Amino acid sequence: MTTRVIQNIGELTTNDPTLGEGTTGRLVDAAMVIDDDVVLWVGANAHAPAADERIDAQNCAVIPGFVDSHTHVVFAGERSDEFEARMNGVAYDGGGIGRTVEATRAASSEELGRATNQRLSELRSGGVTTVEIKSGYALDVIGETRLIDIANVFSDEVTFLGAHVVPPEYAHDRGAYVDLVRGPMLDACAPKSKWADVFCDRGAFDVDESRAILSSARAAGLGLRVHGNQLGETGGVALAVEMDAASVDHCTHLSDEDIDRLAASATVATILPGADFSTRAPYSSARRLRDRGAVVALATDCNPGTSYVTSMAFVIAIAVRDMQMGFDDALWSATRGGAIALRRDDIGHLGVGARADVVILDAPRAVHLAYRPGASIVRHVIVPPGGWAPTGFFSRGDGRISDV
Ligand code: NIG
Ligand code: FE
Repeated sequence: MTTRVIQNIGELTTNDPTLGEGTTGRLVDAAMVIDDDVVLWVGANAHAPAADERIDAQNCAVIPGFVDSHTHVVFAGERSDEFEARMNGVAYDGGGIGRTVEATRAASSEELGRATNQRLSELRSGGVTTVEIKSGYALDVIGETRLIDIANVFSDEVTFLGAHVVPPEYAHDRGAYVDLVRGPMLDACAPKSKWADVFCDRGAFDVDESRAILSSARAAGLGLRVHGNQLGETGGVALAVEMDAASVDHCTHLSDEDIDRLAASATVATILPGADFSTRAPYSSARRLRDRGAVVALATDCNPGTSYVTSMAFVIAIAVRDMQMGFDDALWSATRGGAIALRRDDIGHLGVGARADVVILDAPRAVHLAYRPGASIVRHVIVPPGGWAPTGFFSRGDGRISDV
């Protein structure tokens, strides 16, 4: 086991309030020691202990790896024409999902694996060290199982999203599709998944259908997530809280009651600024949620329809600029908030014992992530061996520094 000391950290965000200032546990002139797996020591640079190897951070900022708790990266094709149309005033209604389903069904597994790998590489080079991956672009038993298998190559945080939309072949019998999702499709996908998700909104599944699917998923041993309140105040938030889902994602349209429900629950409100941006939706009320005590996570929602975004820095910049989140809150939500949305304690912070997911920025302060939108300021990403996916085409890191 090799130990490494990272010295001359200009500004260290630990997200551990016992180690430094505020909720982000911020230290200046800091150092930290890690081994292949975890953080061993954090403190003042002047007191840094010796280790087998030394990394000089050159007075730059260091943050925990981003936890992207919401992605749909396994898909084929692209839908830039829809984006262009939306920028000219056409509203998003979920209708384009069917086009990606068609392209994904037609793609080979190798093609899908390569495309997924490319998107994950982009996320990694921007500092993401944990990623949740959903299925949802096959919508039949064999196809959804295939997407879950591909997702498992890359991540342990795999989500079954058979309830994305009703596919065209079931358009005249929605009930039969709901039965398929909560029956044979769930039976095939649950053993290989950690989570189940439902798109509970206009044009997708209503509250009763969503509740039925989530109940079956819970009985199959899966944790629950909900796409809710993206297109209107359509009941997704209340359902997620009722079902004790780990998170309800989008939250673009929220009533005061929804916010109070979230604040009184263990359900995280996951905000997806890339989706609001790319659909020209009103921006979610991240600030209202935070001020009233709800836990907020930020994620990319990387998908070909509403948010072809692979940069957590871009997500943070929007949250700070247009959702009135303070920068420290936004950084916390993109790291610790994402970890809580995945019900994980070992990631999203750099306290002693945390997984050694460390990002060294090419900037003196972390706020440069929002201050320099569009610039790539991630210099190094450190991940433990096996910290991303155990096998596969995409290297999850060999426990050493990856130059990006
Ligand atoms: O998170 N809301 C539902 N699902 C995706 C969009 C999928 C698509 O349009 O392809 C989302 O926005
Ligand atoms: Fe999504």
